Amino acid sequence: MNGLEEIRVRGGTPLCGSITIQGSKNAALPVMAASLLHRGVSVLRKCPRITDVFCMEEILKSLGAKTWWEQNDLYLDCEDADKTEISSVYTGKMRSSVILLGAMLGRNKEGIMGYPGGCVIGKRPVDLHVCVLQSLGAEVTENDSFIKASCSKMKGCRFVFPKKSVGATEQALLAAVFAEGRTILENCAVEPEILMLCRYLNEMGASIEKTGESRLEITGMTELNGGDMAIPPDRIVAGTYLCAAAATRGKIIIENPPEGEMEAFLEVYRKMGGQYEWNSGKLVANATKVAYPVTDLETEAYPGFPTDLQSPLMAVLATIPGNSSLRENIFEDRFRIVEELKNMGADIQVQGRTARINGGNRLHGAELSAAELRGGAALIIAALAAEGESVIKGCSFIHRGYENICRDLAVLGGQIRENTGNIFYENIQLQEKN
Ligand code: EPZ
Repeated sequence: MNGLEEIRVRGGTPLCGSITIQGSKNAALPVMAASLLHRGVSVLRKCPRITDVFCMEEILKSLGAKTWWEQNDLYLDCEDADKTEISSVYTGKMRSSVILLGAMLGRNKEGIMGYPGGCVIGKRPVDLHVCVLQSLGAEVTENDSFIKASCSKMKGCRFVFPKKSVGATEQALLAAVFAEGRTILENCAVEPEILMLCRYLNEMGASIEKTGESRLEITGMTELNGGDMAIPPDRIVAGTYLCAAAATRGKIIIENPPEGEMEAFLEVYRKMGGQYEWNSGKLVANATKVAYPVTDLETEAYPGFPTDLQSPLMAVLATIPGNSSLRENIFEDRFRIVEELKNMGADIQVQGRTARINGGNRLHGAELSAAELRGGAALIIAALAAEGESVIKGCSFIHRGYENICRDLAVLGGQIRENTGNIFYENIQLQEKN
């Protein structure tokens, strides 16, 4: 990507058609880290081809792993992945690489990495990661350039998370699978991606049980076999496309919806006037009657309304007449798209962690800039609903988590195209620019 990529959208067309959802980014990344715990080959099937996965692949290769793809199956050979240092070039780009610390500890009893800084949506500290590794017996030192952990033999512990953290729970699981004895994690995150990681680790030979609503118990092992599992469909991508259907008052069918993982979102979608039904494993959504504002919605840890769909939903609420309000409880700075939506004519006021949307002004196309992944997807949604053409820069943020959002939305009839060098997607016609 040369930084000049841009996405052009002509709004006003209700989406219509059926779409297949890519593999989940937030499930793929932790199981890639878990593959480090086996000195051989693991396979992740239906793995999404997104830049965060490619970044994690580069990190594993920097540790000595070999990786290759066969269609959408990612092979990781971690036979020789015994290096224990990760450059800040990677950790600065993708903070979720911090969970590799637990995997390196489990494999080689030490790990050092560039400090995984924050990002535009918040400071994103790693204090809970440090705490749980220390509870397992690791010695952790950190300064503002690196974080180091070492331990000759980790011992199981009982750790009560003071607040829910997806990454710190993943960190704990990756470190505890080789710790001596039993580890009990209380008040841990239980997102579908965490349970997927537990299933994958158990498939590798670990012993992890969910023994309570937010409680996981791990019995330490001495070694694990190779993993081989399919990555489930991405619930946030599915929610993003349903938001696009809602914003354009369209009708779409999701061929492979992550059943049982989208209840909180679907409850809000229905409150807005969206209709849906499950039909032989497909999600059939009719958003033609979306017309009702939503008030007092709050983002929460799973199974609450996901923070990753807060911005896409805001774009929808900007198209619905009436007063809506959203409170972002997870990250301290996740209203980055408000100014961009205001450039399109939206009327939104932010007070602290609450955004009040006075929806209904017809949005108009504008020059827009994505500053982070889900906000970028939200700008595309707003542009699909707006009158006229929008140009969205900062596509590289969007490519981190969406395999090909332009192709998918074009398949659904969206007037959208992306200029990534010499390929244009336009109305599902792939035109090689000569
Ligand atoms: C994961 O991030 C996801 N990323 C995020 O998705 C998602 O928004 C987030 O979980 C919440 O669901 C991946 O899975 C790769 P957290 P993570 O630790 O693990 C604070 C996307 O768009 N905290 O659950 O970093 C933290 O600052 C991304 O796909 C501490 O205070 O999130 C935040 O306020 C964005 N100390 C809250 O907890 C810590 O040590 C929740 O963070 C760790 C986190």
